[in-house]
Amino acid sequence: MDIRQATIDDLLGMQNANLLNLPENYTFKYYLYHALTWPELSYVAVDPRGRIVGYILAKMEEEPSEEPCGHVTSISVLRPYRRLGLANKLMKQSQEAMVAHYNAHHITLHVRKSNRAAISLYRDTLGFEVHAMEKSYYADGEDAYGMRYIFTGSK
Ligand code: ACO
Repeated sequence: MDIRQATIDDLLGMQNANLLNLPENYTFKYYLYHALTWPELSYVAVDPRGRIVGYILAKMEEEPSEEPCGHVTSISVLRPYRRLGLANKLMKQSQEAMVAHYNAHHITLHVRKSNRAAISLYRDTLGFEVHAMEKSYYADGEDAYGMRYIFTGSK
């Protein structure tokens, strides 16, 4: 499986994977906004025939803050391709680009409290910590953990 930077041509495939994998969905315009504004931060995993089997859609935080902050809008991997290390690689590629291109100090994301697979990926594999609990963050009323990872070398 190849991991590469996402292009405009990948956006429909990313949106399709998102619709299959997650209840949090976005307009095509929002994918386009990510790709045009932060083209270095979103990646896809593709099979040998070029089909998208996983993606990370990421951005820089737009609210004014003291330090530049990266944010993962969405990440997912199609079911038959899970536990192959793809999400780990997608996250690392995006994190490296956040630091290299935007001097990111840290990265944040939200995750459902019940999403054990994703929480394990973020906390156990990637070293994120829970920094907030957001009540009823999701449309169906489920709480979110706000998670954060401070990049090495940042204070
Ligand atoms: N159960 C427990 N731990 C898991 C699981 C699982 N099902 N899946 C991954 N992990 C942890 C493990 O520590 C794993 O390391 P190991 O395989 O050596 O034990 C580590 O994460 C790395 O796993 P990857 O193989 O890189 O993860 P994968 O490619 O399978 O993708 C993902 C993980 C993205 C959570 C996938 O299960 C998925 O697409 N789920 C549905 C969509 C989703 O929940 N996305 C995240 C929403 S939050 C957000 O988008 C910000």
